[in-house]
Amino acid sequence: MEALAIERKAEQNRELRERLMQLKKERNAIILAHYYQRDEIQEVADFRGDSFLLAQKAAATEADVIVFCGVHFMGESAKILAPNKVVLVPDERAGCPMADMVHPIGLREMKARHPNAKVVTYINSSADVKAETDICCTSANAVKVVNSVDADEIIWCPDKNLGHYVSQFTDKKMIIWEGYCNTHDMLTIKDVEETRAKHPNAQFVVHPECRPEVVAMADFVGSTTAILKYCRESDRQEFIVGTEDGTGYQLRLDSPNKIFHFASKFLVCPNMKVNNLKKVVKCLETMQPQIYVPQEVADKARVSLERMLLVK
Ligand code: 13P
Ligand code: SF4
Repeated sequence: MEALAIERKAEQNRELRERLMQLKKERNAIILAHYYQRDEIQEVADFRGDSFLLAQKAAATEADVIVFCGVHFMGESAKILAPNKVVLVPDERAGCPMADMVHPIGLREMKARHPNAKVVTYINSSADVKAETDICCTSANAVKVVNSVDADEIIWCPDKNLGHYVSQFTDKKMIIWEGYCNTHDMLTIKDVEETRAKHPNAQFVVHPECRPEVVAMADFVGSTTAILKYCRESDRQEFIVGTEDGTGYQLRLDSPNKIFHFASKFLVCPNMKVNNLKKVVKCLETMQPQIYVPQEVADKARVSLERMLLVK
């Protein structure tokens, strides 16, 4: 960008941030942002987190309005956990392709084929699918959740890569759905080998939504929060990161003197990037778009989310 354009953008963002502060006060609103959001959103968030931390925060907030900056299923989970709050999203087109890979009809058929199995569903799923679920999980607690379930057989959906990772830490039989994250699944062995060749002193840290053969190459495997913690606390100075590019914001904030290389330029979730600062301000101005979940769906889905929040 030319110097003038950069300055104009900075000025625009300053004005937007001022307007946002004013609106937040007027509406008694809280801004929650996933670590994969654009920097300009993470900068103004009251709370940044991964799927688990954000769900916990939504369930506990005293604000009247939650502005959920992430993708649709996250706003939906917030509304299910906090049904009396207004939940706004900056752009309702920000969806998650993985969440769309499982439909309640298909899940009901799977349940009928395995009547003794309990259903563990990744939080990256629709409210309708959660309503068909015994217990939800996120990448931060997936192993604990699966091992907490009182059944020897688990129907796991929708992420096959995370399912494969979890199956290494449980004796339960896992029946794994064929879904995946388009962004994490794109990372290949070749990408990691090439990045390692360029940065031989770096440790490779990876999210378990990546393919099993890529996860097998890692020095550390963990959810977004676990990766952040590992890099923050490690004595090492240089890392190759195998998760979504937005994580760079918190990684650099936590460890300004460490070096982070993303393992591929394709580790960018286009859905997460649909949101921007302008849309965050606009949704608080217009109080639209709001998330609605039909009450009977929300009541069933809430059981599966609340069970997850209780797993220690
Ligand atoms: P976490 O937030 O659980 O790390 O999940 C990553 C993700 O893909 C969110 O959509
Ligand atoms: Fe969905 Fe993957 Fe994007 Fe997360 S990173 S919202 S799982 S597509």
